[in-house]
Amino acid sequence: MTALSAEPALARWGFSEWVESARRSGELIATPELDDRNDAVISINGRKVVNFAGIGILGWQHDPDVRNVFVETAMNYGLVVGGSRVVQGVARPHLELEALVAEITGRQKALTYATGLLANVGFVHAMSARFSFNDQPGVDNADTVFVLDRDSHWSMWKAVERFKFGRNLINFRHNDIADLRQVLENLRGRRVVVGFLTVYSDGSMAPVGEILDLCDEFGAVSFVDDANGFMVYGNGGHRFAAEYEELRRATFLMVSFGKSIGLGGGALAGPADALDAFRFLSGTSVFTTNIQPPTAGAIVHVLRRMRQDPSVMERYLDRVDRLRERLLGIGCTINATPTYVTSISVGSNHTAVRVRQDFLDRGYLVPMFGYPAVNKNQTVIRLMVNNRLSDEHLDGFLDTLAELKQKYEF
Ligand SMILES: Cc1ncc(COP(=O)(O)O)c(C=O)c1O
Repeated sequence: MTALSAEPALARWGFSEWVESARRSGELIATPELDDRNDAVISINGRKVVNFAGIGILGWQHDPDVRNVFVETAMNYGLVVGGSRVVQGVARPHLELEALVAEITGRQKALTYATGLLANVGFVHAMSARFSFNDQPGVDNADTVFVLDRDSHWSMWKAVERFKFGRNLINFRHNDIADLRQVLENLRGRRVVVGFLTVYSDGSMAPVGEILDLCDEFGAVSFVDDANGFMVYGNGGHRFAAEYEELRRATFLMVSFGKSIGLGGGALAGPADALDAFRFLSGTSVFTTNIQPPTAGAIVHVLRRMRQDPSVMERYLDRVDRLRERLLGIGCTINATPTYVTSISVGSNHTAVRVRQDFLDRGYLVPMFGYPAVNKNQTVIRLMVNNRLSDEHLDGFLDTLAELKQKYEF
């Protein structure tokens, strides 16, 4: 039988050639196929591997009580709502979760979405919608200008893809207040949304207060993607407390439940009227399903426990600080801002492919972030260390890293 990609029409897309050349260069890495659950140690084809690639940092997803809540909620509310928010509705666990997120973030209201990515897409869609239920005038925000930090997440760039660059989409240099000011100067009189992250994928942190000051000065709406920082910071901890205090001034917040909570899903939080409109205007609350009820119930349980006892996160962050010190001790170049996201510079793709494979051969799965997550040939090992890794796992990782650093001179 002929391979599908060899079919004449599809051949023009070049997939076969691309796959073949990426396979030759080693960049078409094999997807880890897990024999059982994702944890600090995983099994791939019967082989135990220490896992540095997971993003559920505190390991709540393995907590017996969290799993029990998941099962109980599934029994009470079913596995799915069975349709989108607008058509089929939401279950009580969603409403509890939304009330809790609104309370934690200090916003009037929150809306859940199946993933953080869909919350971002929905936000952009709603803020630029032209819509009316009937012949009467409705909302018309099609001329909204999005001003995004250049290092915004892929989901934001995907969401604004249909905007015309220079007309209703403009970027500013990463964390560069002077550049943002200049952009906003040129947009006076327009309806502007300034979008940025708290914690970036390279581990940097936004100058939250300064950006929000500029939004106030220029009358812009602010949108902050807090997927990475939600419940890591701002829950009474001392790290980045000033930034998270300022964050309460942002008009809209997006959070993800994949990192600190270890589960899945996302939410938007902000002014009540706007979020009521978003139920209809965001598209991703109309044309796709929401978080599964048992997951929503389990998130509520985790959030309550994290609020009750913030010391769990503090102890985790202490561990990350010690790891950073040890990385510097073996001469690694890491991100300057001490967030929990640690980027270890490796450099060229060529080196990165070999370092990743050598790690794997020695029993470590490390997340290597190359283009398009970072600039070409500025590949990094991007760690969101999992708290279920033991000190011995961390020692082994550091010893291996020191050895490979010498071997490949990065
Ligand atoms: C900054 C940022 N925004 C948005 C997302 C998307 O969130 P989710 O994984 O919940 O779809 C991520 C996920 O990695 C992220 O890091």
